[in-house]
Amino acid sequence: MRWRGQSPFALTNRSGWYPQFLNPVVQAIGALPETGRVLDIGTGLGALPDLLHRQYPQLHITGIDIDPAMVAAARQQVIAENVVFEEQQPNQPLVFDDSSFDVVTFCSVLFLIDDAIKVFLMQEALRVLKPGGSIMVLSPSGTISFKRIWHDFRRFPANRNNWTFVFWKLVTRQAASRWKRNAWTFQFSTRHHLSYSQQKVFHDHALLEIITKPIY
Ligand SMILES: C[S@@+](CC[C@H](N)C(=O)[O-])C[C@H]1O[C@@H](n2cnc3c(N)ncnc32)[C@H](O)[C@@H]1O
Repeated sequence: MRWRGQSPFALTNRSGWYPQFLNPVVQAIGALPETGRVLDIGTGLGALPDLLHRQYPQLHITGIDIDPAMVAAARQQVIAENVVFEEQQPNQPLVFDDSSFDVVTFCSVLFLIDDAIKVFLMQEALRVLKPGGSIMVLSPSGTISFKRIWHDFRRFPANRNNWTFVFWKLVTRQAASRWKRNAWTFQFSTRHHLSYSQQKVFHDHALLEIITKPIY
């Protein structure tokens, strides 16, 4: 599906609301040392690295994705020495060393993919994370109330692509509700004895879950 030659996902990235959806992750990363290292898995068009780089220009950010077209577009989006985008081979271990990142992020990724791949990606995320580092999982909440959608819609910075918010709510609703109901990240953390916290963010349209790797 395309609109004026662009996919709804590309238009979402150029809307007034999408940065607000990602902003809780940017804020949560804010506590890192200036030269910290962040890995964004499933980076898409590089929206999170872009926001992060604008706010914290010293951070080293790596975005990876299995879709080469996304990686190519992300490389056009952020051009900086300390922000890199790499193609990831599906179902292959990440190419990074153990304990090499302070934060690993999954924004709008895990709730969409199969269980086996989720487990594999999470294990890889834990491997490349430094002790004491965090995995941040941002997902839509799946809640739907048209009154609420309309109310929040009017608060976003004016932008002709803001209609994608309603589209996003509708298309993510089912998978996001299932994600929340199954509490997958919490179950994973419990099984691996990891500390877990969650918060409702983006006016309750999204859920931010944070797992911390212990310092052994
Ligand atoms: C809905 S998009 C979200 C993109 C971006 N994180 C954002 O918030 O705008 C999901 C992305 O995850 C990528 N993806 C799916 N499975 C993946 C995997 N196993 N490893 C890396 N990326 C993956 C897709 O190619 C897609 O670009």
